[in-house]
Amino acid sequence: MPTLATTVDGLKLPNPFVIGSGPPGTNLNVITRAFREGWGAVIAKTISLDSSKVVNVTPRYAKLMTNAGDEVVGWENIELISDRPFKIWLDEFKKCKDQFPDGVLIASIMEEYNKDAWSEIVEKCEAAGVDAFELNFSCPHGLPERKMGAAMGENPEIVEEVSGWVMKAAKKPVWAKMTPNVTRITDPSRAAFRAGCQGVSAINTIRSVTAVNLETLRPEPTVEGFTTPGGYSCKAVRPIALRMVMEIATMIRREFPGRTLSAIGGIETGNDAAQFILLGGDTTQVCTGVMKFGYDMVKKMCDELLAFMEKHKFETLDDFKGKSLDYFTTHAELVRMQRERKEKQKAAADEAAAKKMVKADSEWSGDDFVKQSEALARGTK
Ligand SMILES: Cc1cc2nc3c(=O)[nH]c(=O)nc-3n(C[C@H](O)[C@H](O)[C@H](O)COP(=O)(O)O)c2cc1C
Repeated sequence: MPTLATTVDGLKLPNPFVIGSGPPGTNLNVITRAFREGWGAVIAKTISLDSSKVVNVTPRYAKLMTNAGDEVVGWENIELISDRPFKIWLDEFKKCKDQFPDGVLIASIMEEYNKDAWSEIVEKCEAAGVDAFELNFSCPHGLPERKMGAAMGENPEIVEEVSGWVMKAAKKPVWAKMTPNVTRITDPSRAAFRAGCQGVSAINTIRSVTAVNLETLRPEPTVEGFTTPGGYSCKAVRPIALRMVMEIATMIRREFPGRTLSAIGGIETGNDAAQFILLGGDTTQVCTGVMKFGYDMVKKMCDELLAFMEKHKFETLDDFKGKSLDYFTTHAELVRMQRERKEKQKAAADEAAAKKMVKADSEWSGDDFVKQSEALARGTK
């Protein structure tokens, strides 16, 4: 019987399914619900020292539906980090660890470009009992206007410097969460690893404008008649997330063996998760999926992932982590391999035809007459 249990950066998870930072981890009530339903770990909604600077608007979501209108495939949000006071969060972290001492609770943190602020938030969260950190270098909307989130994450030098501050202050494992809104996601990932981060999480949301309303001519989500580009998530982003996870995992293999990767982006099923693990993910995070299907989706995801493992006779997640990375190569190599295969096939066909060559006039057939003639011509060469 295969097992989903895994140890990542010393954190013992019953399964690789982690609540991604966002509404599904936004207060004690929902975090404890996630543990009760069996999630492997919870990353709380991103917090900062001064929540009074965080002011949300409504509406703040816009959805892209299938043509049939029966399923959400893309989800834009212009939601900020948590607008709940830091003190309340510390209290809730403590209560959560009291109730679920074995539950892996990860604090997602974000601060301004200030060493003391990052050190303070790390130290206070650790004192409240969190098990690890995720550094939000990746929120693509709102916060970058304050030079936070993706404004830091798109600059590898700042990622390295700020991660370095955190690594000096933190005793617990640290994952740096990457923005996909860059040309090469490996550059900031490499910077985080250089600074000593144990892991990288990818991806956060993709900057987007979901739709323009053809009646009002206003882009959505429309707030007081206006909007601002938001962050796109849900299954529509999965192919982009898979590509970026593949790139980071390949880099980890070559340059930082042993460092970890938490894969995120449009994961809704155990089979989705299997694909991300095959491309090098140690854990798989779900955010929008929980908003679509609810916390109990984790049970079905575990069953599906176990069924996949049973089918392929994998006993542990490590048995197939990164296995599909071996099947990526350059386009030039694809062309070379295809040409080689076709040449081999042609040579085999020629050999088969030669074997079938008419050796007595009684062997001529009406159907293969032309081929038989050709074979005899080749045979004379
Ligand atoms: C409504 C909403 C709020 C989010 N808030 C945060 C946040 O506070 N911090 C963070 O790091 N990521 C946040 N995210 C990004 C998710 O954690 C995740 O990286 C992204 O949505 C892609 O995964 P998904 O397709 O499973 O949602 C948020 C996403 C959504 C949809």
